[in-house]
Amino acid sequence: MHAISDLVNDHNFVQLKGIGLKQLHLKIEALNPAGSIKMKTALGMIHDLETRGKIRPGSHLIESSSGSLGVALSIVCAERGYCFTCVIDPNSSQQSIKMMQALGAQVVLVDRRDENGGFLGSRIAYIKELIARDERILWLNQYANPENPRAHARTTALSIFENFDKVDYLFIGAGTTGTLMGCVQFFGTHSPDTKIIAVDSVGSVTFGFAAGTRHIPGLGTSRRPEIFSPVGIHELAMVAEADSIAMCRYLARSNGILAGGSTGTVLSAVAAWRGRIPDDATVVAISPDLGERYLDTIYHDAWVIERFGCIPTLPEHVTSCDAALAE
Ligand SMILES: Cc1ncc(COP(=O)(O)O)c(C=O)c1O
Repeated sequence: MHAISDLVNDHNFVQLKGIGLKQLHLKIEALNPAGSIKMKTALGMIHDLETRGKIRPGSHLIESSSGSLGVALSIVCAERGYCFTCVIDPNSSQQSIKMMQALGAQVVLVDRRDENGGFLGSRIAYIKELIARDERILWLNQYANPENPRAHARTTALSIFENFDKVDYLFIGAGTTGTLMGCVQFFGTHSPDTKIIAVDSVGSVTFGFAAGTRHIPGLGTSRRPEIFSPVGIHELAMVAEADSIAMCRYLARSNGILAGGSTGTVLSAVAAWRGRIPDDATVVAISPDLGERYLDTIYHDAWVIERFGCIPTLPEHVTSCDAALAE
Protein backbone atom coordinates (compact mmCIF):
# COMPACT_ATOMS: atom_id res chain seq x y z
CA MET A 1 0.00 0.00 0.00
CA HIS A 2 1.32 3.41 -0.94
CA ALA A 3 0.55 6.86 0.43
CA ILE A 4 0.40 9.71 -2.08
CA SER A 5 3.80 11.03 -0.93
CA ASP A 6 5.45 7.71 -1.82
CA LEU A 7 4.98 8.47 -5.51
CA VAL A 8 8.29 10.24 -6.08
CA ASN A 9 9.58 9.58 -9.59
CA ASP A 10 13.30 10.08 -9.29
CA HIS A 11 14.52 8.52 -12.54
CA ASN A 12 13.12 10.70 -15.34
CA PHE A 13 15.75 11.96 -17.77
CA VAL A 14 15.17 13.52 -21.20
CA GLN A 15 17.91 14.01 -23.78
CA LEU A 16 17.67 17.56 -25.13
CA LYS A 17 18.23 18.75 -28.66
CA GLY A 18 18.76 22.22 -29.99
CA ILE A 19 21.17 23.52 -27.35
CA GLY A 20 24.31 22.41 -29.15
CA LEU A 21 25.45 19.57 -26.92
CA LYS A 22 25.37 15.93 -28.01
CA GLN A 23 24.87 14.49 -24.54
CA LEU A 24 22.70 16.96 -22.65
CA HIS A 25 20.26 15.28 -20.28
CA LEU A 26 17.56 17.07 -18.34
CA LYS A 27 16.47 15.50 -15.07
CA ILE A 28 12.72 16.11 -14.89
CA GLU A 29 11.74 16.47 -11.25
CA ALA A 30 8.12 17.49 -11.68
CA LEU A 31 6.53 14.06 -12.15
CA ASN A 32 5.38 13.54 -8.57
CA PRO A 33 2.21 14.64 -6.70
CA ALA A 34 3.75 17.99 -5.67
CA GLY A 35 4.96 18.74 -9.20
CA SER A 36 8.47 19.73 -8.16
CA ILE A 37 11.81 18.67 -6.71
CA LYS A 38 10.61 20.02 -3.37
CA MET A 39 8.66 16.80 -2.69
CA LYS A 40 11.96 15.25 -1.62
CA THR A 41 12.92 18.22 0.56
CA ALA A 42 9.54 18.13 2.28
CA LEU A 43 9.69 14.39 2.89
CA GLY A 44 13.27 14.57 4.19
CA MET A 45 12.58 17.34 6.71
CA ILE A 46 9.32 15.84 7.95
CA HIS A 47 10.75 12.33 8.21
CA ASP A 48 13.54 13.74 10.38
CA LEU A 49 11.04 15.31 12.81
CA GLU A 50 8.99 12.13 12.89
CA THR A 51 11.93 9.84 13.60
CA ARG A 52 13.10 12.16 16.38
CA GLY A 53 9.58 12.08 17.88
CA LYS A 54 9.17 15.85 17.53
CA ILE A 55 5.78 15.76 15.77
CA ARG A 56 2.55 13.79 15.90
CA PRO A 57 -0.84 14.23 14.17
CA GLY A 58 -2.15 17.66 15.12
CA SER A 59 1.32 19.25 15.36
CA HIS A 60 1.59 22.67 13.74
CA LEU A 61 4.39 23.27 11.20
CA ILE A 62 5.34 26.53 9.53
CA GLU A 63 7.60 27.31 6.59
CA SER A 64 8.57 30.17 4.30
CA SER A 65 8.28 29.11 0.65
CA SER A 66 8.06 30.71 -2.77
CA GLY A 67 5.46 28.06 -3.55
CA SER A 68 6.99 24.73 -4.51
CA LEU A 69 8.00 23.56 -1.03
CA GLY A 70 4.71 24.93 0.30
CA VAL A 71 2.74 22.70 -2.07
CA ALA A 72 4.87 19.66 -1.18
CA LEU A 73 4.51 20.29 2.56
CA SER A 74 0.76 20.84 2.17
CA ILE A 75 0.47 17.38 0.62
CA VAL A 76 2.58 15.59 3.24
CA CYS A 77 0.89 17.44 6.13
CA ALA A 78 -2.62 16.70 4.80
CA GLU A 79 -1.69 13.04 4.35
CA ARG A 80 -0.29 12.72 7.90
CA GLY A 81 -2.61 14.99 9.85
CA TYR A 82 -0.27 17.92 10.62
CA CYS A 83 -1.47 21.56 10.50
CA PHE A 84 0.60 23.63 8.09
CA THR A 85 1.07 27.38 7.65
CA CYS A 86 2.98 28.61 4.58
CA VAL A 87 4.42 32.14 4.47
CA ILE A 88 4.57 33.39 0.88
CA ASP A 89 5.36 36.66 -0.93
CA PRO A 90 4.03 38.52 -4.00
CA ASN A 91 6.29 36.49 -6.36
CA SER A 92 4.62 33.22 -5.35
CA SER A 93 2.58 31.62 -8.10
CA GLN A 94 -1.19 32.07 -7.75
CA GLN A 95 -1.66 28.46 -8.75
CA SER A 96 0.65 27.23 -5.97
CA ILE A 97 -1.29 29.34 -3.45
CA LYS A 98 -4.60 27.89 -4.62
CA MET A 99 -3.17 24.37 -4.44
CA MET A 100 -1.94 24.89 -0.86
CA GLN A 101 -5.31 26.28 0.21
CA ALA A 102 -7.17 23.41 -1.47
CA LEU A 103 -4.92 21.00 0.47
CA GLY A 104 -5.96 22.64 3.75
CA ALA A 105 -2.87 24.76 4.44
CA GLN A 106 -3.09 28.24 5.88
CA VAL A 107 -1.35 30.74 3.56
CA VAL A 108 0.02 34.05 4.89
CA LEU A 109 1.22 36.74 2.47
CA VAL A 110 4.17 38.95 3.51
CA ASP A 111 4.56 41.84 1.07
CA ARG A 112 7.05 44.09 2.91
CA ARG A 113 10.44 44.12 1.13
CA ASP A 114 13.58 43.41 3.20
CA GLU A 115 16.72 45.56 3.16
CA ASN A 116 17.95 43.74 0.00
CA GLY A 117 14.76 44.50 -1.87
CA GLY A 118 13.53 40.89 -1.67
CA PHE A 119 10.98 39.30 0.63
CA LEU A 120 12.88 36.47 2.26
CA GLY A 121 14.16 38.55 5.20
CA SER A 122 10.62 39.79 5.89
CA ARG A 123 9.11 36.31 5.60
CA ILE A 124 11.63 34.94 8.08
CA ALA A 125 11.16 37.87 10.47
CA TYR A 126 7.41 37.13 10.44
CA ILE A 127 7.99 33.45 11.29
CA LYS A 128 10.45 34.27 14.08
CA GLU A 129 7.92 36.60 15.64
CA LEU A 130 5.20 33.93 15.45
CA ILE A 131 7.23 31.08 16.94
CA ALA A 132 8.47 33.37 19.71
CA ARG A 133 4.82 33.86 20.69
CA ASP A 134 3.78 30.18 20.37
CA GLU A 135 6.43 27.56 21.02
CA ARG A 136 4.15 24.75 19.82
CA ILE A 137 4.64 25.92 16.22
CA LEU A 138 7.61 24.18 14.58
CA TRP A 139 9.62 25.95 11.88
CA LEU A 140 11.10 23.59 9.28
CA ASN A 141 13.54 26.28 8.06
CA GLN A 142 14.69 24.89 4.70
CA TYR A 143 17.44 27.55 4.49
CA ALA A 144 19.24 26.24 7.58
CA ASN A 145 17.98 22.66 7.92
CA PRO A 146 20.72 20.08 7.11
CA GLU A 147 17.95 17.62 6.21
CA ASN A 148 17.35 19.71 3.06
CA PRO A 149 20.74 18.94 1.40
CA ARG A 150 20.77 15.46 2.98
CA ALA A 151 17.50 14.60 1.21
CA HIS A 152 19.06 15.52 -2.15
CA ALA A 153 22.31 13.66 -1.49
CA ARG A 154 20.22 10.55 -0.75
CA THR A 155 17.84 10.87 -3.71
CA THR A 156 18.54 13.45 -6.45
CA ALA A 157 22.32 12.99 -6.54
CA LEU A 158 22.15 9.20 -6.17
CA SER A 159 19.67 8.90 -9.03
CA ILE A 160 21.89 10.99 -11.38
CA PHE A 161 24.93 8.93 -10.38
CA GLU A 162 23.09 5.65 -11.01
CA ASN A 163 21.61 6.66 -14.35
CA PHE A 164 24.87 7.49 -16.17
CA ASP A 165 28.21 5.72 -16.59
CA LYS A 166 29.88 9.04 -15.85
CA VAL A 167 28.72 12.64 -15.47
CA ASP A 168 31.23 15.25 -16.64
CA TYR A 169 29.21 18.39 -15.90
CA LEU A 170 26.24 18.80 -13.59
CA PHE A 171 24.33 22.11 -13.74
CA ILE A 172 22.24 22.89 -10.65
CA GLY A 173 20.17 25.95 -9.80
CA ALA A 174 20.58 27.58 -6.39
CA GLY A 175 17.57 28.59 -4.32
CA THR A 176 17.91 27.43 -0.73
CA THR A 177 20.95 25.57 -2.20
CA GLY A 178 19.62 22.29 -0.79
CA THR A 179 19.83 20.53 -4.17
CA LEU A 180 23.24 22.04 -4.88
CA MET A 181 24.75 21.23 -1.49
CA GLY A 182 23.32 17.70 -1.53
CA CYS A 183 24.86 17.04 -4.96
CA VAL A 184 28.18 18.58 -3.88
CA GLN A 185 28.19 16.28 -0.83
CA PHE A 186 27.38 13.16 -2.84
CA PHE A 187 29.52 13.72 -5.95
CA GLY A 188 32.47 14.97 -3.87
CA THR A 189 32.63 11.49 -2.35
CA HIS A 190 31.42 9.23 -5.18
CA SER A 191 32.46 11.04 -8.37
CA PRO A 192 34.93 13.86 -7.60
CA ASP A 193 35.73 14.38 -11.33
CA THR A 194 32.18 15.56 -11.99
CA LYS A 195 32.26 19.35 -12.36
CA ILE A 196 29.38 20.92 -10.48
CA ILE A 197 28.27 24.22 -11.98
CA ALA A 198 26.07 26.31 -9.70
CA VAL A 199 23.51 28.51 -11.43
CA ASP A 200 21.94 31.56 -9.85
CA SER A 201 19.80 34.48 -11.00
CA VAL A 202 21.19 37.98 -11.41
CA GLY A 203 19.92 39.95 -8.40
CA SER A 204 20.52 37.08 -5.95
CA VAL A 205 22.95 37.61 -3.06
CA THR A 206 23.88 33.96 -2.35
CA PHE A 207 27.26 34.17 -4.11
CA GLY A 208 28.09 37.65 -2.86
CA PHE A 209 26.68 39.73 -5.71
CA ALA A 210 24.53 42.83 -5.31
CA ALA A 211 20.85 42.37 -4.58
CA GLY A 212 18.40 43.27 -7.33
CA THR A 213 14.77 42.86 -8.26
CA ARG A 214 13.80 39.34 -9.36
CA HIS A 215 10.44 38.16 -10.65
CA ILE A 216 10.81 34.41 -11.11
CA PRO A 217 10.33 32.24 -8.02
CA GLY A 218 12.57 29.30 -7.23
CA LEU A 219 16.16 30.43 -7.73
CA GLY A 220 18.02 33.23 -6.01
CA THR A 221 17.82 34.67 -2.53
CA SER A 222 17.87 38.07 -0.88
CA ARG A 223 19.67 36.56 2.12
CA ARG A 224 22.45 33.92 1.99
CA PRO A 225 21.13 30.52 3.14
CA GLU A 226 22.85 29.08 6.23
CA ILE A 227 23.29 25.67 4.54
CA PHE A 228 25.29 27.22 1.68
CA SER A 229 29.04 26.73 1.30
CA PRO A 230 31.04 27.44 -1.88
CA VAL A 231 33.40 24.51 -1.20
CA GLY A 232 33.21 21.83 -3.92
CA ILE A 233 31.49 24.00 -6.53
CA HIS A 234 33.55 24.05 -9.74
CA GLU A 235 32.16 27.31 -11.12
CA LEU A 236 29.23 29.69 -10.90
CA ALA A 237 27.01 30.93 -13.72
CA MET A 238 24.84 33.99 -13.11
CA VAL A 239 21.86 34.28 -15.46
CA ALA A 240 19.66 37.30 -16.16
CA GLU A 241 15.94 36.57 -15.82
CA ALA A 242 15.29 37.73 -19.40
CA ASP A 243 17.58 34.89 -20.57
CA SER A 244 15.69 32.39 -18.37
CA ILE A 245 12.44 33.44 -20.02
CA ALA A 246 13.91 33.21 -23.53
CA MET A 247 15.18 29.68 -22.78
CA CYS A 248 11.84 28.53 -21.29
CA ARG A 249 9.97 29.66 -24.37
CA TYR A 250 12.54 28.12 -26.73
CA LEU A 251 12.56 24.80 -24.83
CA ALA A 252 8.77 24.54 -25.09
CA ARG A 253 8.81 24.94 -28.86
CA SER A 254 12.01 23.04 -29.65
CA ASN A 255 11.68 20.07 -27.27
CA GLY A 256 8.01 20.10 -26.22
CA ILE A 257 9.02 20.67 -22.60
CA LEU A 258 6.95 23.35 -20.88
CA ALA A 259 9.37 24.09 -18.05
CA GLY A 260 9.36 26.28 -14.97
CA GLY A 261 11.52 29.41 -14.75
CA SER A 262 14.41 27.83 -12.87
CA THR A 263 14.80 25.20 -15.62
CA GLY A 264 15.17 28.02 -18.15
CA THR A 265 17.81 29.60 -15.92
CA VAL A 266 19.82 26.39 -15.59
CA LEU A 267 19.67 25.64 -19.33
CA SER A 268 20.60 29.20 -20.17
CA ALA A 269 23.79 28.62 -18.17
CA VAL A 270 24.41 25.37 -20.09
CA ALA A 271 24.03 27.25 -23.39
CA ALA A 272 26.47 29.92 -22.22
CA TRP A 273 28.98 27.20 -21.29
CA ARG A 274 28.62 25.33 -24.58
CA GLY A 275 31.95 26.45 -26.05
CA ARG A 276 33.83 25.25 -22.96
CA ILE A 277 32.38 21.73 -22.91
CA PRO A 278 34.07 18.98 -24.97
CA ASP A 279 31.92 17.27 -27.62
CA ASP A 280 31.94 13.86 -25.95
CA ALA A 281 31.09 15.14 -22.45
CA THR A 282 28.01 13.93 -20.62
CA VAL A 283 26.13 16.93 -19.26
CA VAL A 284 23.21 16.71 -16.83
CA ALA A 285 21.00 19.63 -15.82
CA ILE A 286 18.26 19.53 -13.20
CA SER A 287 14.75 20.77 -14.03
CA PRO A 288 13.03 21.49 -10.67
CA ASP A 289 9.50 21.96 -12.00
CA LEU A 290 7.32 22.29 -15.09
CA GLY A 291 5.52 25.25 -16.59
CA GLU A 292 1.81 25.04 -15.81
CA ARG A 293 2.26 27.28 -12.77
CA TYR A 294 3.90 29.92 -14.98
CA LEU A 295 1.32 30.23 -17.75
CA ASP A 296 0.24 33.63 -16.41
CA THR A 297 3.82 34.88 -16.01
CA ILE A 298 6.76 33.49 -18.02
CA TYR A 299 4.51 32.28 -20.85
CA HIS A 300 2.21 35.32 -20.79
CA ASP A 301 3.30 37.98 -23.28
CA ALA A 302 1.78 40.98 -21.44
CA TRP A 303 3.38 39.95 -18.11
CA VAL A 304 6.78 39.55 -19.75
CA ILE A 305 6.60 42.82 -21.72
CA GLU A 306 5.52 44.76 -18.63
CA ARG A 307 8.61 43.60 -16.72
CA PHE A 308 11.26 43.16 -19.43
CA GLY A 309 10.14 45.63 -22.09
CA CYS A 310 9.96 42.97 -24.85
CA ILE A 311 9.68 39.21 -25.35
CA PRO A 312 13.27 38.02 -24.88
CA THR A 313 14.63 35.54 -27.46
CA LEU A 314 17.77 33.42 -27.53
CA PRO A 315 20.77 34.55 -29.56
CA GLU A 316 20.95 32.92 -33.01
CA HIS A 317 24.19 31.08 -32.20
CA VAL A 318 22.21 28.97 -29.70
CA THR A 319 19.12 28.26 -31.80
CA SER A 320 21.16 27.34 -34.90
CA CYS A 321 23.59 25.11 -33.01
CA ASP A 322 22.06 21.76 -33.99
CA ALA A 323 22.74 22.50 -37.64
CA ALA A 324 26.34 23.29 -36.65
CA LEU A 325 26.61 20.01 -34.76
CA ALA A 326 25.38 18.03 -37.76
CA GLU A 327 28.05 19.51 -40.07
C1 LIG B 1 10.91 25.88 -8.91
C2 LIG B 1 12.14 25.81 -8.08
N1 LIG B 1 13.31 25.66 -8.70
C3 LIG B 1 14.45 25.60 -7.99
C4 LIG B 1 14.49 25.69 -6.64
C5 LIG B 1 15.79 25.66 -5.92
O1 LIG B 1 16.04 24.48 -5.25
P1 LIG B 1 16.87 24.52 -3.89
O2 LIG B 1 16.00 25.19 -2.89
O3 LIG B 1 17.13 23.09 -3.58
O4 LIG B 1 18.11 25.30 -4.14
C6 LIG B 1 13.31 25.88 -5.98
C7 LIG B 1 13.30 26.06 -4.54
O5 LIG B 1 12.34 26.43 -3.95
C8 LIG B 1 12.11 25.92 -6.71
O6 LIG B 1 10.94 26.12 -6.11
